Amino acid sequence: MTVKLLAFAGSTRAGSLNQALLDLAVGEARARGAQVTSIRLKDFALPLYDGDLEQSDFPPAARELKALFQANQGFLIASPEYNGSVSGVLKNAIDWASRPTDGESMVALSAFRGKVAGLMAASMGPFGGLRGITTMRQILQTIQTLVATEQVLVPMAHTAFADGALKDPLPAQLLGGLVARVIDLAERLAP
Ligand SMILES: Cc1cc2nc3c(=O)[nH]c(=O)nc-3n(C[C@H](O)[C@H](O)[C@H](O)COP(=O)(O)O)c2cc1C
Repeated sequence: MTVKLLAFAGSTRAGSLNQALLDLAVGEARARGAQVTSIRLKDFALPLYDGDLEQSDFPPAARELKALFQANQGFLIASPEYNGSVSGVLKNAIDWASRPTDGESMVALSAFRGKVAGLMAASMGPFGGLRGITTMRQILQTIQTLVATEQVLVPMAHTAFADGALKDPLPAQLLGGLVARVIDLAERLAP
């Protein structure tokens, strides 16, 4: 069975270190036989979550993003830590995708329930985005996603890459372990 994964970063800027880290994970997952759809959240015109907007006209971009989440068995996510927590872009995308559509119950969580996530963070600080990734783990677990125990942190990320690769073999090795675990968990959870 080919595992289907969706990959996205919590930073939208050109030259994002997290996008660079995510790209490595995507390559690793494809090399291990997974079918990976890699998206940029910037390409989705997501408004800030607003309950009135949700009631009046569920934004098409939010519906499209949710459908992608639903269509995949797991997620590869790399996100910066902003002020000790997750990036707003990432949280907003998750909040929209967690909302019920088409008569679903409030707790259906059809974009997340039974899915797997592998988390990564690259930060310019010395702690590698640990606080952001820990909060991300808690958010995803709250919405019924199984988060792999492995995770990858890249501190001082502005000096960590050379020609798109990680200079330090340790995070590179951890990345392989994380991706392998996500694929394995997704296979085991497949209905
Ligand atoms: C609003 C904001 C808050 C930030 N807060 C933190 C932080 O709490 N911890 C940290 O290590 N880096 C922090 N940074 C620095 C990021 O690690 C750095 O900008 C990083 O390159 C962002 O990831 P990106 O390269 O994928 O865009 C912050 C950056 C911004 C813009």
